[in-house]
Amino acid sequence: MAEQRSERIAVVGGGVIGLSVAWRLAADGHRIRLIDPAPASGASHVAGGMLAPLAEAWPGEEGLLDLGSASLARWPDFADDLAAAARLPSGLRREGTLVVGVDSADRAELGALADYLAGLGRGVTALSGREARRLEPALGPSVRAALEVPGDLAVDNRATLRALHAAASAAGVEFLAARAEEVRAGQVVLAESTVDCDAVVLAAGAHSAELHPLLRGRLRPVKGEILRLRARPGALPPPRRTVRGPVRGRQTYLVPRDDGLVLGATQQEVGFDTRVTVGGVRDLIADAERLVPALAEYELAEAVAGLRPGTEDNVPMIGELEPGLVVATGHHRGGFLLAPITADAVVALLRGADPPPQARAADLRRPGGIPCTS
Ligand code: GLY
Repeated sequence: MAEQRSERIAVVGGGVIGLSVAWRLAADGHRIRLIDPAPASGASHVAGGMLAPLAEAWPGEEGLLDLGSASLARWPDFADDLAAAARLPSGLRREGTLVVGVDSADRAELGALADYLAGLGRGVTALSGREARRLEPALGPSVRAALEVPGDLAVDNRATLRALHAAASAAGVEFLAARAEEVRAGQVVLAESTVDCDAVVLAAGAHSAELHPLLRGRLRPVKGEILRLRARPGALPPPRRTVRGPVRGRQTYLVPRDDGLVLGATQQEVGFDTRVTVGGVRDLIADAERLVPALAEYELAEAVAGLRPGTEDNVPMIGELEPGLVVATGHHRGGFLLAPITADAVVALLRGADPPPQARAADLRRPGGIPCTS
């Protein structure tokens, strides 16, 4: 039985971060109201679901790599707890990741990534194209080199969202279908009423910046278009591992699902526009077909776009903005990856304890961060 803490906490935002935070806080004994007009329907519904801090590592982003690695290490327990609490599959897939390259510039990029990771003491295995095809026969002859990253995992984002919703409900989270217009310490302003509480957690993704003056201009929506492809009977089955590649310099990924895969993603900064473009779909399919030619036989089941919440340095913002108001937003490309450590950090902050040390990278007070009143 959870200890009864009885704090009344309003969580604003019902994406993967808001749902994870709400579930963990309720399990920690708080009384939670989650405010969102349509939980689990925004960027988290669109997401590919990669949990790939090594495959997506970038020189200069070591704080983000440590944060992602610490969160990935939490995923197996998080998934087990989630499945038990929800009585539903967690969506976690443990088959690992291959980073692949096609032309000589891609191969140079793979080599640079391997060297960079080796320099940080995080080895990955370099494979030839032939060795990669032995692991994943669906890879085409254009794939000339690969890195095997068995520890980088993936989730079926929609299965995870279903489980989080069920686990949060089972833990007593009350869902309020309303749009927040403003958040303050201990108060959420709605169109025709306010919700008073002991503390607010703001986890509204790219929309968070509209809800508090200190966040204005500090988050940008980064549009990502994604396709869902279903394997038709008789077509070569999709890869079992996540396949990520630079394809002639463009970043592409294929994340497996039980019935096919998710193919992503474009990256554009065009405001709050979620219309799928012809050019986006064309580029995604052209790049993915170079990696897995059999995709031409698949059903194009869905084309959809979401808005990643990007901060200035692409690192999330997790911390107390003012007493009674905690922020957990700006997760950009890593909402699913970073959900477990974000939830742990928010639970710790609301207990008055220290968040996990790796969460310091996401501290609001980091250089260039937000001026805080606390
Ligand atoms: N997590 C990958 C993306 O945002 O496209």
